[in-house]
Amino acid sequence: MKILITGADGQLGKEIQNLFVKDGIEIIPYGKKQLDITNRKEVNAVLNQHQPNVIINAAAFTKVDLCEVEIEKAYLVNAIGPFNLAVEAKKMDCRFFHISTDYVFNGEKNTPYEVDDFTSPNTIYGKSKKLGEELVLAINEDSTIIRTSWLYGHKANNFVNTMVNLSNKLDEIKVVDDQIGCPTYTKDLVLILQSLLNEKPGIYHVTNLGKCSWYEFACEILQFLNRKSKIIPVTTKEYGAKTPRPMYSVLSNKKLVDLQIHQRDWKEALHEFLRKEYGN
Ligand SMILES: NC(=O)c1ccc[n+]([C@@H]2O[C@H](COP(=O)([O-])OP(=O)(O)OC[C@H]3O[C@@H](n4cnc5c(N)ncnc54)[C@H](OP(=O)(O)O)[C@@H]3O)[C@@H](O)[C@H]2O)c1
Repeated sequence: MKILITGADGQLGKEIQNLFVKDGIEIIPYGKKQLDITNRKEVNAVLNQHQPNVIINAAAFTKVDLCEVEIEKAYLVNAIGPFNLAVEAKKMDCRFFHISTDYVFNGEKNTPYEVDDFTSPNTIYGKSKKLGEELVLAINEDSTIIRTSWLYGHKANNFVNTMVNLSNKLDEIKVVDDQIGCPTYTKDLVLILQSLLNEKPGIYHVTNLGKCSWYEFACEILQFLNRKSKIIPVTTKEYGAKTPRPMYSVLSNKKLVDLQIHQRDWKEALHEFLRKEYGN
């Protein structure tokens, strides 16, 4: 089986390459420099060259604040790019897996979001990702969409690594305490993605288990690593981020439970990551 990965140089793309080792699977990684998913001709040429059985789209414009400014780019990368891939996948009868986000929801619920809950994003990033999902399913209903949240992995620009870096420099770190979600280790996402290769197409929510605030997440990171910096809880308003974030974005795991696909608690996954990356 041949699996082509787009956005292969990103946080998730790299983890897919590291972990996707199964007998009989050939991985074909394409980073942005080799394949710009917004370029239909390039997409067509690369896919025709390789004729993969599966495409996994890990490419995205993920900088939430920048998406508010570079609106056209956000829609091109997060909506038109996935559409281009879905069109070609359909033509060559190849399975298409597209990664999406908790930001497609408005965050106004206080119970976990189900896969078929109404999507009503508050940001350009969320809106462009929502449109990406819709275009993909419109052109190719046999696609699989995987929504995840609060992702962290090896040597990437993510919350965990940022907190560790800040704790090297600051005695006090202010962290938002009124946004609730679920951290997800890229390794856990990729292992479940592997299991989903054998499941029906559709929308899936894939995160670690449980929930926390960013403040609780930060405390767990620094406590585990015995860092001395004090974490100061602040409200979203006090923190004053440029772009709104969902206040609650826990994704329901009901569909994975029904399929008997195992997920780990977020703390267990985080501890493994910290031990591996920071040697505790
Ligand atoms: N990170 C999170 O917390 C999080 C949470 C929920 C869902 N997700 C979703 O998970 C997926 C993977 O995210 P990630 O954390 O791995 O993001 P990432 O590290 O930013 O990786 C995305 C990759 O896509 C590349 N890319 C950008 N524009 C492209 C284009 N036109 N053609 C091809 N590649 C392009 C980026 O390259 P450049 O960096 O050079 O632009 C980057 O290498 C995304 O779909 C994201 O929406 C992420």
